[in-house]
Amino acid sequence: MMDSVLSDRANRRILVTSALPYANGQIHLGHMLEYVQTDIWVRFQRMRGHECYFVCADDAHGTPIMLKAEQDGVTPAELIARVRIEHERDFDRFLVSFDNYHSTHSEENRHYSELIYNRLKAKGHISRRTIRQLYDTEKQMFLPDRFVKGTCPHCSAEDQYGDNCEVCGNTYSPAELINPRSVVSGSAPVERESEQLFFKLENFREFLSGWLDGGHTQKEIANKQKELFKEELLEWDISRNAPYWGFEIPGEQDKYFYVWLDAPIGYLASFRNHCDRSGLDFDEFFDPDSDCELYHFIGKDIARFHTLFWPAELHGADFRTPTAVWAHGFLTVNGQKMSKSRGTFITAATYLRHLNPEYLRYYFAAKLDDTIDDLDLNLEDFRVRVNTELVGKLVNIASRCAGFITRTFDGQLGRSLPEPEMFGEFSRAADEIAAAYESRLYSKAMRLIMQLADRTNQYIDAEKPWILVKQDDTRNRVQEVCTQGLNLFRLLMIYLKPILPETARGTEAFLDIGELRWDDRLEPLLDHRIKAFKPLVTRVEEERIDRIVEESKDSTREKPTGKADREPLAEEIGIDDFFKVDLRVARIVDAAHVEGADKLIQLTVDLGDETRTIFSGIKSAYDPSTLAGRLTVVVANLAPRKMRFGVSEGMVLCAGSGDRELYLLEPDSGARPGMRIT
Ligand code: MSP
Ligand code: ZN
Repeated sequence: MMDSVLSDRANRRILVTSALPYANGQIHLGHMLEYVQTDIWVRFQRMRGHECYFVCADDAHGTPIMLKAEQDGVTPAELIARVRIEHERDFDRFLVSFDNYHSTHSEENRHYSELIYNRLKAKGHISRRTIRQLYDTEKQMFLPDRFVKGTCPHCSAEDQYGDNCEVCGNTYSPAELINPRSVVSGSAPVERESEQLFFKLENFREFLSGWLDGGHTQKEIANKQKELFKEELLEWDISRNAPYWGFEIPGEQDKYFYVWLDAPIGYLASFRNHCDRSGLDFDEFFDPDSDCELYHFIGKDIARFHTLFWPAELHGADFRTPTAVWAHGFLTVNGQKMSKSRGTFITAATYLRHLNPEYLRYYFAAKLDDTIDDLDLNLEDFRVRVNTELVGKLVNIASRCAGFITRTFDGQLGRSLPEPEMFGEFSRAADEIAAAYESRLYSKAMRLIMQLADRTNQYIDAEKPWILVKQDDTRNRVQEVCTQGLNLFRLLMIYLKPILPETARGTEAFLDIGELRWDDRLEPLLDHRIKAFKPLVTRVEEERIDRIVEESKDSTREKPTGKADREPLAEEIGIDDFFKVDLRVARIVDAAHVEGADKLIQLTVDLGDETRTIFSGIKSAYDPSTLAGRLTVVVANLAPRKMRFGVSEGMVLCAGSGDRELYLLEPDSGARPGMRIT
């Protein structure tokens, strides 16, 4: 209901966001589903003449980004700068029309994060108490749930994450794991107390309950959240201890905002940055009584953050709340979760090396609706659909008609339409198509449009201009028929422009007209000279898809012949990734106890050309006095780590199964210090 009321308004002012992708990985086709869904909606609104802004940003904070940077031997700032360039390039090439792409690691975001926090605090919505959390004594950091693994306390499955078991599905706290170990250092975590800050969600019970009932998100999403209302709403931990990559919390010592606190605030930050550069008034969009619209497009996995915490935070800090949060389902490829071993974990960059982004935009549109159901990209279906619908049905109309107009009539369209009623009918179809776009029923819009394309082809088939053109007395009829055909094609391209912006541009160029807008459907294009037609879209070759799948597989892993496709033991890496690790033979020249450390031994190692100090957590297995003189293997290009006892300049390799059993690696006799391990 809300949709139709708003869409009838003449001049809407709309701000739209997509979720902010994490800055530690590449954009893949699963992400793209969301950015394409949002972009289509935004382009549709703009074409209709509304004021519509689309902002996004990289989500640049948090533990995974901190650790990934360390792994890559760069600073977090360097990592997020590099990833941002890749992300922006991928989005740009997929024709995602952001007005602004920013970062959560920005001054605007610091400003709004502090502002919102301070306002919530002043109003008594923040509490503090001491909690126990797992702590990695070697790495000297508190561990997020996903960075602890161990044996499931319910079903004894090994190697399960600290928050839930992938085998039996039970959830638990990391402290309940049997034999827990830190994913970061491999050591056994200990429990440690520290004081944390909490957002008192229960204070917003009444507000949230009203918001969830108000049609601001899909029913399924709202109902899911409302299950929590049967009990007191849990306080949300919004702080993290140092070391952490994020914003320090004002007025606290060594405490940082949890990444999910400042991430959605990144929407404000990106828009603020856009306003400052374009002269827009930020407050008009975010004042509590703003009559601008605000929409967040998200995946269903992050609905809780967007439909509980986020509206409550905004409301509590005197900002307007979202008009709607629209969730979509997950992308599967060939019916299954995207998988590296099957070659279906396809990055945007790999796809773009081989195929036109509009193919995928079209395929997603043809399958998207307003539900949170998962959507399958079946690669064979994708190829067939693009070839039959986009190339065979749609573009074919233009290529069939344009040649005659150019060759026989000097590019000139006729003065009137032979079938004005048919044009009128196509033109009136715009309302139903627009309603489908507005309510995110893109698959319905595509169905309506393709029905019109079928009818256009039937019209041309029945008129047979290729026969008419052969006889003097029927030749002029060809101009009429093709003028009709091209005018119907023009209407179809108006309706498809939100999905196929480049094809629409090609159409504008060949019809020699200005930018197509929704209202252009009202008048036909007559007595006008067009340019020569160039093919707008070509067929998808099967070979291209094979190449994509091939390149998405890990090329270094040969599958054992005759055996079924196996999942790798650990996340796969390419040979290039492996070569990033500089492994060297080292001779331990000295080994000593470290005062005050119960797990560490201080090693002095000879790497051929240089001597280094390494703190190694092998004390439980080795007596320092037995180590001097031995050869071992060292990671030589690990970024130096400052530890409480000094700087560690590398890492010694051990085989092991936890912290008790440890076996130092040793090269075969003859190896010399400094030799590279390849
Ligand atoms: N950084 C958070 C979002 C913060 S928003 C304030 C995040 N990032 S993400 O990179 O993991 O995901 C970004 C968006 O892509 C999310 O909306 C997520 O649901 C969506 N998708 C990620 N993988 C997806 C699929 N396989 N299929 C569909 N959408 C997917 O979450
Ligand atoms: Zn289990």
